[in-house]
Amino acid sequence: MTARIIDGKTIAAELRGRVADAAHRLARDRTLVPGLAVVLVGNNPASEVYVGSKTKATVGSGMRSFDHRLPANVSEADLLTLVGRLNRDPVVHGILVQLPLPAHIDSQKVLAAIDPAKDVDGFHPVNLGRLAAGLPALAPCTPLGCVILAKTVRPSLEGLEAVIIGRSNIVGKPLALLLLGENATVTVAHSRTEDLPEVCRRADLVFAAVGRPEFVRKGWIKPGATVIDVGITRVPGAGGKSKLLGDVAFAEASEVAGAITPVPGGVGPMTISCLLANTVRAACMQAGLPTPDFSRLSPDESMRD
Ligand code: GUN
Repeated sequence: MTARIIDGKTIAAELRGRVADAAHRLARDRTLVPGLAVVLVGNNPASEVYVGSKTKATVGSGMRSFDHRLPANVSEADLLTLVGRLNRDPVVHGILVQLPLPAHIDSQKVLAAIDPAKDVDGFHPVNLGRLAAGLPALAPCTPLGCVILAKTVRPSLEGLEAVIIGRSNIVGKPLALLLLGENATVTVAHSRTEDLPEVCRRADLVFAAVGRPEFVRKGWIKPGATVIDVGITRVPGAGGKSKLLGDVAFAEASEVAGAITPVPGGVGPMTISCLLANTVRAACMQAGLPTPDFSRLSPDESMRD
């Protein structure tokens, strides 16, 4: 068997189109233009690239973008003051403080200062708690993207065995909660899990989020399983160039899996689209309007199992 490739770029573009349609309708019918504030501290080159892409995508989807750039030596107090101001600003519906922050700033304190209603990253403990309680919440973008990608292959995840490798607060734990919400049977495996290959072989859905390049091997994959690779690690490649690798040994896993995401071009492109989706949802929630559900994209007919 050769796995079908789950094309994250195309699926992310479809999601972005639906989010832009929703944003345009809000502007036309409700004079509500969703606004996203992005706060960047310092000039980490990778963060500059992320923030640039987020701004472009936000404006391109008919929303407002407010960029706040602060020097690397900004005090924690000044950053908290800015977050407080954005919390109170009625034209700002979503706030994203780009991570990592400089070492002298307590990231958890800053993230916890964001109004949970504007927490489009879904990193606030209140949103994680709401997700755990099955209440409406803003969920983190990468896990949301993973679930949407899985559902393009398996429109219903109900009753399926899902194994997540990795238990981070940003991916593994919220992903487990989202999958439980879809009625999957969820196992969260991690570095201390005994016989990880055997645990993984049970899975109809494998989500690899450990940050170790090519960690998941062919023999770990149940034939026909759907494999979603969250990892992205830059490693030295041929001719002095670098290349990006996922957490799954893609070529060999593709021989057994039913469907698999590539790296790059899988989960990565979904993250910004989910951020835009969360911004529209946050704007609707703040305005007391029904919140659109962007998680159900048209399933790819060619990819039905
Ligand atoms: N840095 C890298 N990815 C992210 C993200 O999704 N959100 C934030 N806030 N910072 C990041």
